[in-house]
Amino acid sequence: MAVIGLGTMGAGIVEVFARAGLAVTAIEVDRAALARGMAALDASLSKAEARGRLTAGERDQVLGRVTAAADLAAAASAGLVVEVVPERMDIKRQVFAELDRACRPEAVLVTNTSSLPVTAIAAGTRHPGRVAGMHFFNPAPVMRMVEVVAAVQTDPATTETLTGLVRSIGKTPVVVTDRAGFVANALLLPYLNHAVSLLAAGYATREDIDMAARVGLGLPMGPLALLDLIGLDTSLAILEVLDGEFGGARFAPAPLLRRMTEAGRIGRKSGRGFYDYGQDSPPPAVLTPTIQPNDSRPILSSVTLIDGAADHAGPAAVATLAEMIGAAGVSVTAGESDLVVVVASPGAAVLPAAPADRAADTVGMHVPGGGRLAEVISTVASSAGAAARAAALGRRLGLEVVHCPDRPGFLAGALLYPHLNDAVRMVQDGYASAADVDAAMTLGCGYPRGPLAMLDDIGAGRVHAVLASMHARYGDPAFAPAALLADHATAGLAFHSGGSGQ
Ligand code: CAA
Repeated sequence: MAVIGLGTMGAGIVEVFARAGLAVTAIEVDRAALARGMAALDASLSKAEARGRLTAGERDQVLGRVTAAADLAAAASAGLVVEVVPERMDIKRQVFAELDRACRPEAVLVTNTSSLPVTAIAAGTRHPGRVAGMHFFNPAPVMRMVEVVAAVQTDPATTETLTGLVRSIGKTPVVVTDRAGFVANALLLPYLNHAVSLLAAGYATREDIDMAARVGLGLPMGPLALLDLIGLDTSLAILEVLDGEFGGARFAPAPLLRRMTEAGRIGRKSGRGFYDYGQDSPPPAVLTPTIQPNDSRPILSSVTLIDGAADHAGPAAVATLAEMIGAAGVSVTAGESDLVVVVASPGAAVLPAAPADRAADTVGMHVPGGGRLAEVISTVASSAGAAARAAALGRRLGLEVVHCPDRPGFLAGALLYPHLNDAVRMVQDGYASAADVDAAMTLGCGYPRGPLAMLDDIGAGRVHAVLASMHARYGDPAFAPAALLADHATAGLAFHSGGSGQ
């Protein structure tokens, strides 16, 4: 087989095939890029060897299966060719036209495009039935799924060959049709885009956004760190395609994403994106936190707790927090205290629950499901000192602390609930089953639970209520609960059998 293009993904895909025992011709017409790609392959194999995943002998065998070449003609005898060149239709079509001339008529030609229409890429070839998509996830050697794109012109036999191949290299195929973003990117990118908008709006700091996703939602990486891994340029290109195909606020690229791409701050591959991967550069100004609790009073001896739940936190959440606070040596009192904490629920605002005479001393606190994160919620009336005291309290309880404003969903929920809504819409549109959506996000993006399983855990009613609050607050149609979500909430029905739905 042959792989065309040796950027991050191309080199990773070569590694996957070669480690699975297949002979691979690694082709990159730019000789400097070819050398970089082969060096990246070598480095990745050395890392695997250092971690004890490969012996030195196996490493040499893997490298022995890879032949580097700088000419597309080297793909002439391959039975399968995987194209991994930059995400531009003109470049891809040119590569496919050349492959069409160079390769055997029965060779299967595959694109690793993350969003461009496979049908359009296939259009210039003489045998479009043998053209399909095979979409790997970054890092290719690690992520366990490959989306096999059966476009309208793809022969079923081609799809079958590819699903068999994906299984034979130890990954799981999910067969999708040729719709922008397929399954995983169509769900992932709007969520990442939303995180950029929250950062740009000063809603929370980059660290807090990423912490909320990792610690509050249990995801393997925060969205801004993940954008740096994927590449901001690649992410922007995918969003533009999604925006063109589907439209709407969830897909319109956040201006900050565009500006950073224009500035060349495109993530790990350029040494700098939302985070700095170089040695000595100062932190970028745009990332300065807007919420900076700076009260140095370390001391907190007493706290007043108020039930802020219009719907779900309720007395049980107050009692749990009171117990934790008491165990940490801070007294909980209804009288004079250092701090008033509204035990908050993501569907209800904190401010209405704040006592009028103590509004400056009042913040909300919400501990999402896993019980490892405290969201400290500042209202317009909260003082910076109150937020700092609440943060100190959260840390004393052994929790990671993030700060956010008094908006529906707070921070973890503001990221998660629209993402779950998008997943429901995909099922509602008949594009993918709940099982395929969850497989794509767990195997392709390392989620511990798929979005619909998460939704079942939280309950359709609750997710619906928070989205309705977000929709009412912002008036943005992107947050309007999907009709199918409303139906599941009304019926108390889960998306997977065994889930609660409530
Ligand atoms: N290449 C090869 N192997 C790698 C690697 C790389 N670039 N990065 C990590 N690994 C391996 C490590 O060697 C390690 O292997 P062993 O367990 O065999 O020793 C394993 O992965 C875990 O690595 P780490 O312990 O260093 O780091 P981690 O536990 O934090 O995991 C991660 C890193 C796998 C990247 C994890 O954070 C993760 O799953 N993140 C989510 C990534 C994701 O969502 N990818 C999809 C993006 S969307 C996309 O790619 C599609 C598109 O079109 C844009």
